[in-house]
Amino acid sequence: MFSRIARPSLAVCSSARNFSSSSQNNAKVAVLGASGGIGQPLSLLLKNSHRVTHLSLYDVMHTPGVAADLSHISTKAKVTGHLGIDQLADAVKDADLILIPAGVPRKPGMTRDDLFNTNAGIVRDLCEVCAEVCPDAIMGIITNPVNPTVPIAEEVYKRKNAFNENKINIFGVTSLDVVRANTFVAELKGLDVDKINVPVIGGHSGVTIIPLPSQATPAVSFPQEDRTRLTERIQNAGTEVVEAKAGAGSATLSMAFAAARFAYKVLDALNGADNKVECAYVRSAKTPAAYFATPLLLGKNGVEKNLGIPKTIEYEAQLIENAMPELQSNIKKGIDFMSK
Ligand code: NAD
Ligand code: LMR
Repeated sequence: MFSRIARPSLAVCSSARNFSSSSQNNAKVAVLGASGGIGQPLSLLLKNSHRVTHLSLYDVMHTPGVAADLSHISTKAKVTGHLGIDQLADAVKDADLILIPAGVPRKPGMTRDDLFNTNAGIVRDLCEVCAEVCPDAIMGIITNPVNPTVPIAEEVYKRKNAFNENKINIFGVTSLDVVRANTFVAELKGLDVDKINVPVIGGHSGVTIIPLPSQATPAVSFPQEDRTRLTERIQNAGTEVVEAKAGAGSATLSMAFAAARFAYKVLDALNGADNKVECAYVRSAKTPAAYFATPLLLGKNGVEKNLGIPKTIEYEAQLIENAMPELQSNIKKGIDFMSK
């Protein structure tokens, strides 16, 4: 292990147990894939947060340099760098929150599903160690395709006897869809983007991304033609970035922002804050699909309460119905991968 600062005392123990109802922040956050296009700016945002006391950076390359660089920033989080699979257990030991942006991104012409063959194995291997070392830590999976990588993670936990059916602590991070929806709606309506919230439900690819502008706060209204154009822009926003980057990867900076938004809410909820709600993709009984993103009330164990599908207008109800075949097939692909 490459450690910039002395390791924490082993007496500092794991997951939600670190947190009391006091306002003291004391979180270890591990980023797996920390040297990548998302990993580096995400780690910077986490290092800049008062919520984090230990930032643990894991990758198969470059973590000594990234950790050295971040460790010179004058904020309180201790930074440690961990390189290669032999150092993964150390990286995640005692973690409260693990964020996984490890894996390959799209190039123009590819779908997220085209990443499955490479990224499914990466997520499986990382989760095997997490399930053994820190099964109670909250996990946010960013690696695409999210629709099957989250089921893969839970299947790994089942195999390792680390799965708790009464608890949901493995999340697919879909916050970027919400961030985009907020941005585009604010632009269209001339609203303050800081004050707008547009729920986005479903999954994280193409038609499975289901924005619900009819449920935005503050309320906004659109002629159907504009609503359709807005919906399609949000569904295709990842591709918009992939094409603009022209072979140099997919969204990294906006994703880092979105993952930090997710992480801050999780950490605040772990720390006892009320009313921390975020849309994310989790095991769910709210639709026929076994995994589905909805607004979630966050708490000390992960999902405190699944707030379910908000009220929808007819057009949005149809989007949900249209998404089901692809979403269910993506979920099956993940589960089948683990049964081989
Ligand atoms: P990147 O190639 O820039 O970085 C990926 C990092 O993962 C690299 O540093 C690489 O060394 C590391 N890595 C690869 N295999 C690893 C392993 N086995 N263990 C640990 N680290 C490993 O890619 P990126 O742009 O950061 O994107 C990462 C992933 O995030 C992609 O799958 C991409 O599609 C996905 N993504 C998801 C969302 C979302 O909304 N959920 C948004 C953007 C990107
Ligand atoms: C995104 O929505 O930007 C990510 O899922 C990356 C991608 O491949 O589109």
